[in-house]
Amino acid sequence: MAKILKNLIPFFLVLSTICSLPTLSSAKKNHGFSRTISPAKLGLEQEKLSHLHFYFHDIVSGRNPTAVRVADALMTNTSLTGFGAVVMIDDPLTVRPELSSKLVGRAQGIYASASQTEVGLLMVLNFVFMEGKYNGSSLSVLGRNSVFSAVRELPIVGGSGLFRFARGYAHASTHTFDLGSGDAVVEYNVYVYHY
Ligand SMILES: *[C@@H]1O[C@H](CO)[C@@H](O)[C@H](O)[C@H]1NC(C)=O
Ligand SMILES: *[C@@H]1O[C@H](CO)[C@@H](O)[C@H](O)[C@H]1NC(C)=O
Repeated sequence: MAKILKNLIPFFLVLSTICSLPTLSSAKKNHGFSRTISPAKLGLEQEKLSHLHFYFHDIVSGRNPTAVRVADALMTNTSLTGFGAVVMIDDPLTVRPELSSKLVGRAQGIYASASQTEVGLLMVLNFVFMEGKYNGSSLSVLGRNSVFSAVRELPIVGGSGLFRFARGYAHASTHTFDLGSGDAVVEYNVYVYHY
């Protein structure tokens, strides 16, 4: 095994030299680490404000859950708030409250119970859109979600594609919550500035 690795080392050295050649030549052209450019150079024109409206389906039950608990704080008394629990999600986003309505994107990321005194979630996720011109663009959310409040506000901290330079906020309000299954449908109104 060690011998095989030894023989491979020269091969990797040659490979990495070849791979770094184009980078070396382009670095020669531009030694600078940072410079100021005009927004027009990136095709950035007038900033606009968009309002997006959709329903978020958090499916924890059944054979095909879209929200899966991946960690728990087993060493501590997690109490009633589930403090320490971490859930990975790939939740569908639809235009209407019914799951069968048109899919416009998915919410991919994590929510975790971050409060010891109430149900307060840390949400770290991307809204990945599939609808029309937004297909492939995403918005990044990083915020706090106290799920039993009527309306929760979550910051939009950035985005990609059509949402480059995005900033704004999302208002989340529970549309339905099934106490038996734990499944929830949450209405989202998102307001973002972007180009
Ligand atoms: C765990 O938390 C519950 C609810 O707050 C409390 O009633 C219970 O006494 C706690 N148990 C321990 C071992 O600390
Ligand atoms: C979104 O883009 C992907 C990949 O480019 C493509 O396969 C898919 O059909 C598109 N979906 C819609 C709804 O336009």
